[in-house]
Amino acid sequence: MKILVTGGAGFIGSHLVEQLLKQNHSVITIDDLSNGKKSFLYTVMDHPNHQFIQGSVLETDILKQAIKGCDVVFHLAAVLGVKNTVENPLKVIEGNIDGTRSVLEAAYLNKTKVIFTSTSEVYGKNDNLPFHEDSLRVLGPTTTSRWCYATAKALDEHMCFAYAQKGLPVIVVRYFNAYGPRATSTQYGGVVPKFITAALQGKPITVYGSGEQTRCFTYVEDTVLGTMGCLNPNVKNQVFNIGINEEISINKLAQQIKLISGSQSSIVHIPYEKALGKGYEDTVHRVPDIIKASELLSFQPKISLEDGLKKTISWYKRQMKEQEGD
Ligand SMILES: NC(=O)c1ccc[n+]([C@@H]2O[C@H](COP(=O)([O-])OP(=O)(O)OC[C@H]3O[C@@H](n4cnc5c(N)ncnc54)[C@H](O)[C@@H]3O)[C@@H](O)[C@H]2O)c1
Repeated sequence: MKILVTGGAGFIGSHLVEQLLKQNHSVITIDDLSNGKKSFLYTVMDHPNHQFIQGSVLETDILKQAIKGCDVVFHLAAVLGVKNTVENPLKVIEGNIDGTRSVLEAAYLNKTKVIFTSTSEVYGKNDNLPFHEDSLRVLGPTTTSRWCYATAKALDEHMCFAYAQKGLPVIVVRYFNAYGPRATSTQYGGVVPKFITAALQGKPITVYGSGEQTRCFTYVEDTVLGTMGCLNPNVKNQVFNIGINEEISINKLAQQIKLISGSQSSIVHIPYEKALGKGYEDTVHRVPDIIKASELLSFQPKISLEDGLKKTISWYKRQMKEQEGD
């Protein structure tokens, strides 16, 4: 197939591009490098079936040209991260809503199936676990910018289904906390990169709140596996949770990272308010129900948290060594 990947130089996108090429698809990557890096694509930059375009999905001429003749577009380009939602909500709203509208319109004109990457954040504060794809969305007030990412992604999902109503095949995947090599955006809120970096540098590992909040951290290979399942031509106009259902508290995550990396770092706690400003609310627990993805996409996560953390920490160690050698 001929496939366009938006945001393909980012953390998840770069792994997806690699896998698509391994399966002999022809891939065009478009990324404005606002958060991605060309170096994430170093293994595939010169691949004969790969073309990289540095550009924004908001530049409609570039997008229309790139999508021509594509069977599928994986739309990952987005503005994300807890820090962005708190400090730059307008950037988050514009980046997600305008970008997705632009991709959907170009795909519609070209009859290209869209696989849109959404987030478990859309379930918000719902405490009825696990989350099914049709679970309620329980979000806080609009005066708290913390909810703008979840809201923008939910509106993007609505836009996907509005285009589906006009005949465009779409799939929405909701990712649950992906981590792994290249998840380097410590300043944008990734807890795994933050903890690993602190552990390897011997600095305090900082936990927000009580640390008893839980998440299901999904190794990026598994995230990509579920995403690739959407290439199944018989599946369309559906939402899927893509994640592992191995739940861990942030306190335990900190301890595990400390142990695996052999770190002497202390684990310290600070209130959310101090870290992310007044009124910040966190989701307490987040667990996916993945039965639907398992039945329709044959998705079964393979990498345990312990194995995934070992692989990720090894990658970080190599990166740090390389940087020391520079
Ligand atoms: N990482 C996670 O745990 C997670 C969880 C839920 C959902 N998601 C979703 O998965 C997707 C990929 O996330 P990621 O973690 O790889 O983030 P990322 O920031 O590494 O990747 C996003 C990429 O999009 C690019 N980009 C941003 N705006 C663009 C634009 N206008 N035009 C072209 N490129 C643009 C960035 O440069 C970056 O390379 C996003 O849509 C995100 O919302 C990620």
